[in-house]
Amino acid sequence: MLLDVRDLHVEFRTRDGVARAVNGVSYRVDAGETLAVLGESGSGKSVTAQAVMGILDTPPGRITGGEVLFRGRDLLKLKEDERRRVRGAEMAMIFQDALSSLNPVLPVGDQLGEMFVVHRGMSRKDARARAVELMDRVRIPAARERAKQYPHQFSGGMRQRIMIAMALALEPALIIADEPTTALDVTVQAQVMDLLAELRREYRMGLILITHDLGVVADVADRIAVMYAGRIVESAPVHDLYGAPAHPYTRGLLDSVPRLDLKGRELHAIKGLPPGLTHIPPGCAFHPRCPMARDVCRTDVPPLYGVAEPDAARGSACHFWRECLDG
Ligand SMILES: Nc1ncnc2c1ncn2[C@@H]1O[C@H](COP(=O)(O)OP(=O)(O)OP(=O)(O)O)[C@@H](O)[C@H]1O
Ligand code: SF4
Ligand SMILES: [Mg+2]
Repeated sequence: MLLDVRDLHVEFRTRDGVARAVNGVSYRVDAGETLAVLGESGSGKSVTAQAVMGILDTPPGRITGGEVLFRGRDLLKLKEDERRRVRGAEMAMIFQDALSSLNPVLPVGDQLGEMFVVHRGMSRKDARARAVELMDRVRIPAARERAKQYPHQFSGGMRQRIMIAMALALEPALIIADEPTTALDVTVQAQVMDLLAELRREYRMGLILITHDLGVVADVADRIAVMYAGRIVESAPVHDLYGAPAHPYTRGLLDSVPRLDLKGRELHAIKGLPPGLTHIPPGCAFHPRCPMARDVCRTDVPPLYGVAEPDAARGSACHFWRECLDG
């Protein structure tokens, strides 16, 4: 197992009290596998990823429990310099906003080349040649010429390709992409996702794809983890989850997106808002918004129940998952 996150807890001290952003998240990613992490804004997707990458702001953030096993080693127990080495060479992250992640005053070829100079001890000349190869690899046309240009001279989609090239440079075993295409228009989104999926296959990387766009994940992910108020409420192979969700929140998400295969079906947004994380409702955190809620939901926190499937692990944190699954 490449990455095995176990019972991770993260909180933030805020003026309103302690915000419990991550409340016992567990997920696993194998080499060559894509896990999509899905959920509304504020559900803890990015904070979980930051804790895994070791880039959480501490303070105000604090990891209060759990393990992040990467190739069997608990990253939370490493010293900062060891951690930095893992982060540089073995795992990399792609962010939504490439412009603010790239250096505006350095040509992109030099930025890419810097990775090989620093981590691989290459000469400037060799590093530049590798940078051009990499730009070619992520299909930036006229790579040799464009390597001399600055980030602002690229379109959003092309900049995102440069981010992908940066992340790939050292051939990491794991990439975490946090909303990598959200800022792009729809056609470009699809191209960048296709590229990411192709490279993931070619390099046999593990990929964690954070998104709130269900449409994006259907084609590229193997498994989905759905987050709500800092917990995973459903975890399943993509096609099982699309076929029949075992959690009312997932059902709500599925019902809220237009689907080509369900033309003419009415669209529902999930009513209400996600809870504030300083005051997460007791029992099932989703109960104030859940159309299936009953008394027990207001008092008893549902564990992640195992949902029996013939060949793959599946879980739902709903007391009534069976009813939900049956539609
Ligand atoms: N630097 C911070 N200081 C205080 N609280 C924070 C900080 N970063 C995150 N949080 C808290 O953690 C919660 C979860 O944030 P997170 O960024 O993980 O959400 P997300 O699921 O990635 O949402 P989005 O889809 O908007 O990116 C936030 O709602 C906020 O309460
Ligand atoms: S446990 Fe109850 S409130 Fe929570 S999702 Fe299931 S039915 Fe809804
Ligand atoms: Mg986020």
